[in-house]
Amino acid sequence: MAESITITDNRTGQSFEIPISNGGVSSAEWRKGLPDLFFYDPGFMATAVCESAVTYLDGDEGILRYRGYPIEQLAEHSTYLEVAYLLIHGELPDKQQHDAWVKEITYHTFIHENVRKRFLEGFHYDAHPMGMLVSAVAALSTFYLDAKDIHEPGSREKQIVRLIAKMPTMAAACHRFSVGMPFVYPDNSLGFTANFLSMMWKIAEPRYDANPALARALDILFILHADHEQNCSTTAMRTVGSAHADPYSATAAAAAALYGPRHGGANEAVIRMLTEIGSIDNVDGFVKSVKEGKGRLQGFGHRVYKNYDPRAKIIKQAAEQVFEVTGKNPLLDIALKLEEVALNDEYFVSRRLYPNVDFYSGLIYQAMGFPIEMFPVLFAIPRTSGWLAHWIELLDQDQKIYRPRQLYIGAEARDYVPMGMRQA
Ligand code: CMC
Repeated sequence: MAESITITDNRTGQSFEIPISNGGVSSAEWRKGLPDLFFYDPGFMATAVCESAVTYLDGDEGILRYRGYPIEQLAEHSTYLEVAYLLIHGELPDKQQHDAWVKEITYHTFIHENVRKRFLEGFHYDAHPMGMLVSAVAALSTFYLDAKDIHEPGSREKQIVRLIAKMPTMAAACHRFSVGMPFVYPDNSLGFTANFLSMMWKIAEPRYDANPALARALDILFILHADHEQNCSTTAMRTVGSAHADPYSATAAAAAALYGPRHGGANEAVIRMLTEIGSIDNVDGFVKSVKEGKGRLQGFGHRVYKNYDPRAKIIKQAAEQVFEVTGKNPLLDIALKLEEVALNDEYFVSRRLYPNVDFYSGLIYQAMGFPIEMFPVLFAIPRTSGWLAHWIELLDQDQKIYRPRQLYIGAEARDYVPMGMRQA
């Protein structure tokens, strides 16, 4: 076989051949020859856990495509809701499908009053909005009992629409609660992002019309964040989904993973880092401390991208449009200087560490008035469509339950010792 590898087991002297397919070798083929040997792969550095047709990513070339469409074209010509349709259904919608989809989403933006009253308003006054969102999404599973019918296409579609539609409503409600402002109901006459901005910022005016440039910039950010193949939160979604949990519970697990500063919490960490640096004059000293192992350069580096993250390029352009409306974020100069220093520094160059999506997104969010606690929440809103696309794919492929193996390194078998007889 031309496309294969040959393995020799030196314990037995036996050789066997494994076919390479799609750039990988199947563990089923591997086990035929070496049934007693597992891969030790913490962090899944060299393990493809599924076949997926949702998103293509080439980290060396800096390429990202949803369902084959380049992210640059989608960011320029599409809208978040159209992209969500594409991710979920696999194809771009025609006009009729598009209009029906937008209508469905728009009419499912309201949340049950008890989600707000019993759950969201039950949190402590200083609760982090992302913690609130994770819990509120999980709570939805108790409101939609039909969500358990995961093999029924009609039920699946209904939960997908509900989740995509209600995310912005819950996200804004979490913010309003955390700043002591009254909850704002969705306005179905507005588009997806304009409606979200209305729920975030409306005070006493009868109708809140967001600046169209800001609504569009947010829509672009939502497109860029909608999916990113097998990242940590999507893997959490697939893991919980593979146990056949309902989609709200699986989405809550994914959102919990996204909360972490190594993943969706990174843009929050970027703003904290830039604020701490405080001035361009401190950039060199900060980079030196990172190289000495005292913390990381937040918003830099990626498990897969070993080149400039294509999303970061688009965000950098979107930032200029936002700053024309809001005025420049004073942290921008520090970020630009930091990028320049890092991209010319041997430490970052040799490790192929480039700005990722989070390096500039936080600056935009901050300029638009979002508190930094809301940044991971802003990531979760659009990523919901990506998580759900993977969830459907997993169910359609009838994937086995996610259940990795381990290499045990603990104690040998030993006898239980009554408490009074234990040695200190
Ligand atoms: N600053 C300084 N050094 C770094 C950084 C960084 N941001 N990222 C990686 N390194 C170094 C790391 O110390 C290691 O060096 P050495 O080989 O000398 O030990 C080397 O680069 C490889 O790092 P790693 O931790 O093995 O790489 P990873 O693939 O496990 O981690 C990452 C990827 C994103 C967690 C990491 O680059 C990081 O912590 N970045 C900062 C946080 C961040 O911006 N996260 C957002 C990711 S993009 C959004 C998303 O898709 O979730």
